[in-house]
This record gives sequence, C-alpha cells and structure tokens, in this order.
Amino acid sequence: MKVTVVGAGNVGATCADILAQKEVCNEVVLVDIKDGLSEGKALDIFQKAPINLYDTKTVGSTNNYELTKDSDVVVITSGLPRKPGMSRDDLIGTNAKIVESVTENIIKYSPDTIIIIVSNPLDVMTYQAHITSKFKRTKVMGMAGILDTARFRAFIAEELNISPKEIQALLLGGHGDTMVPLPRYTTVSGIPINEMIDKNKLEEIIERTKFGGGELVKLMGTSAWYAPGAAAAQMVESIVKNQRRIFPVCVKLEGEYDIDDCYLGVPVVLGSNGIEKVIELKLNSEEKKLLEESRKHVKEVMSVLENL
Ligand code: LAC
Repeated sequence: MKVTVVGAGNVGATCADILAQKEVCNEVVLVDIKDGLSEGKALDIFQKAPINLYDTKTVGSTNNYELTKDSDVVVITSGLPRKPGMSRDDLIGTNAKIVESVTENIIKYSPDTIIIIVSNPLDVMTYQAHITSKFKRTKVMGMAGILDTARFRAFIAEELNISPKEIQALLLGGHGDTMVPLPRYTTVSGIPINEMIDKNKLEEIIERTKFGGGELVKLMGTSAWYAPGAAAAQMVESIVKNQRRIFPVCVKLEGEYDIDDCYLGVPVVLGSNGIEKVIELKLNSEEKKLLEESRKHVKEVMSVLENL
C-alpha cells in the first residue's frame, strides 16, 4: 500500500510521520513545492525508524508527482495556514488554486486513488477537489470531524479528570464556528454525558470546541498540526486496512439529512472503497436547526468558490 501526503508543512509531516511510525502502509511519499523540504523530512522520519522500530519506506519529492504514481490514498494538506484574526474562509482565494493544481497532478498519476482533504476552508476545499477530480463522492472527502470531535472529547476528559480514551462523541456540520457537537451522542464509557457533567459546563465546552482551532492559532500564531495530522492518519488507516470505522467526515450529501449537493461533516463508515456508508442520525428539531445553519454557511462559501 502506498500513501501520498501533499504538503510537508506541520500537518503533512505529522501525518506522514504517524503513517510511517504505525506502519499503516509500505510506502509514504511526501510532496512539497519547497526545494528539499519533503526530502529532508522524509529522510528524518526514516532515520527515526531504527529508534522506534518500523520499516515503512519514506520518500520525499519536490513537486515531482511521478513519485506518487499509483497511490492508494492521497492526503492533501497544501495551502496557507491561518494567522491570528483570520477565519478559515479567508484562505479560500489562495488555497482553492493550490488544491486545484495539486488535485490535477495527483489524478494524473493515481486516477483511482482516494483523496482526503485537510486544506482550509475544509468543506469547500473538498468541494474543489471534487470539481477538479470529478471523482464520485465515495472517493473525495475532508478531514475535520475527527479533529473537532477529538477537541470536544479532550475538553470533556480534562473537565472530568478521566482518560480521553473513555470519551466517545459525535459532531456534525462544517469545519467552522457553525459546527454542531452532539451531546445526545456523547458518552463516557457508555454513560450519557449529561449524567456526568452539568448543562452549563457542557455548554462552555461546546463553545470552546467550536473555536478550538482559533484558540490554537491565537496561542501559536499559526494553525495546529499534531491533532490534525493524527486525525488525517486515522482516516487513512481505516481506509487502507479496511477497518470500517465510524468517523465524522466531510462528504457530499446527496439527500441525506434532507440536504443535497453540499459538503458537510456527518458520520460515515470508512473502508477500502472510501466512504462505504453515510449514517443518518435521527436528529431532534434543535439539532436539525443547528445543522441547517451550518449548511447555509458552507453553501455561501461554496458559492464564493464558484464565483472566483
Ligand atoms: C484546525 C485547522 C487545521 O482546526 O483547521 O486546527
């Protein structure tokens, strides 16, 4: 199995490192436009192999897509990250062109691959990759839900002083301030979250989750990478090993949740064909309302892309 990660910045390099370390595939190709950066990072990851004991081949490539030929999965992280004060949507002009050209290069050498988008604004960059590749929806998806849910779970674990491993949660919607964390589908080792945490505290955690990416941008002056890189690697693993795990993933909705032609995060089964199944939750009216707000917001940004 061969996986390509495009963009050897913080998120891409973290993702490639985890894929290599966990031996998710035999070969990881890291591509970047900056001369020598991907070769250097790929070599550094390989030099860690004798210490942490893995044998994944890691290859760097300065914009030579021939080396990505016949990739089973491609993760696209290319594009500018956020600076303090910017929303993810502010990146659209620059990142749309980058995602378009990367996607063109990728499909030239791997016409049957599965594409995972990490570039922001996430939902609309996934739409861009779909427009460019013309791949069916099972094979073009975006990483956001695992990351946003992980933030939600981490904050709950911290509040309860319980292992993050014990917190299960779900979240819907776009990767932005309108995301919809779902307390009704959140449990602590099977115990409904409302039996463990009071309503006001949970509301506070939900708010913090929605702005979780922004909190890190403010602290570091750029966007996060450890959790985003790990989240993308987890999606790759579920596909490459056909684990059929359930994750919230950005996918084109075609009638599910009464939504058509919009890229949004919903729970899916991820396996060797990519999106194996879109899971429709029975939402209550409040959850439906929040999802509709998120849909409207993403649709607006999708039309900005269409008019670029
Ligand atoms: C974040 C970026 C990766 O949420 O969108 O940290």
